[in-house]
Amino acid sequence: MVLHDIKHKISPLMQNYIAARKKITDSEIPLICQIHDHIQNHKGKQLRPLLTILSACCCGLPLNAAPSHPVFLAAAAIETLHTSTLVHDDVIDESDLRRGAKTVNSLWNNKTAVLMGDFFLAKVMKTINDIDNKHLTEIINNAVIEMSEGELLQQQYSGHYDIDENTYLQIISKKTAILIAVCCETGAILANAENSLRQTFRAFGNELGIAFQMRDDIIDYLSSQKTGKPTGNDIRERKCTLPLILALKNNVIHNKILPLLIKESFSDNDINSVIDTVTKDGYLEIARTKMLNRLDNASQILSSIPDTPYRQNLNEIICLLKEI
Ligand code: IPE
Ligand code: IPE
Ligand code: MG
Ligand code: MG
Repeated sequence: MVLHDIKHKISPLMQNYIAARKKITDSEIPLICQIHDHIQNHKGKQLRPLLTILSACCCGLPLNAAPSHPVFLAAAAIETLHTSTLVHDDVIDESDLRRGAKTVNSLWNNKTAVLMGDFFLAKVMKTINDIDNKHLTEIINNAVIEMSEGELLQQQYSGHYDIDENTYLQIISKKTAILIAVCCETGAILANAENSLRQTFRAFGNELGIAFQMRDDIIDYLSSQKTGKPTGNDIRERKCTLPLILALKNNVIHNKILPLLIKESFSDNDINSVIDTVTKDGYLEIARTKMLNRLDNASQILSSIPDTPYRQNLNEIICLLKEI
């Protein structure tokens, strides 16, 4: 089972999402169209709209829902918001590879990437405004604020190798988990679920989102062929993420790799040496255990909602994330 198979099971609904996405990012400006085409040619996993729609299905959205149902526009807005943060994130992280292709900042330049990310964000806010659901507007507004805070908090801790696990959790909750929680809550809101069910979906998305960023931080240590992103970019960008936080608690490892981490500039050998030490001494595995605990929490929360094929699909997503 891969993510594509799950999308296939709800393919009429995913088609409605794709149609809504095209409408949102429409523009007459040739440069915007070129960049947009480049991004559309390398779409990514589309995990967030999938979660939004599956959550709505769990709350009663039918498989033959009308294409005009607001959940599709909301799913499209959320994926566009995610895209906007990635375009900005690649400028911040000075990254030249995403989804196995060159990033906007590397193909064009930083200025263009910043402006394009802003354009996407503006389209998202207009779309959410147009949907005109007060709960949705509120959670999206808050998510945009918290995601910016998360990226800034991460920036504040850049190069701080004494960062503790709680601060790390605060960063990843804000920069990543919030949006995944919002996806699931949005599905519930737009399928008219009552408040307690909405909160259940939010809590589920939050655990899934924390696990998702932990997984992303683990795969930063793996081959770029597997991830479509540069290997070791977090180390290069002086981000101390879960595997490194855990490894640095060991004094011997601390003394071995800290001198490498605080060098003014890194050679490929420095990066590889940090990756090798963290991996060989089992810290990726320890980080993975923490990720699995979060996925277990997510699955526990899910067990409280009615058993439907869509709940099963959400459980399948949990299983897929367990594999690294
Ligand atoms: C990447 O998200 C950014 C993180 C929050 C880790 P995804 O891994 O969902 O990115 P795409 O959209 O599939 O490329
Ligand atoms: C997630 O952090 C980025 C956002 C939530 C915008 P990362 O910097 O780890 O994401 P990748 O690894 O570049 O996709
Ligand atoms: Mg990044
Ligand atoms: Mg990453």
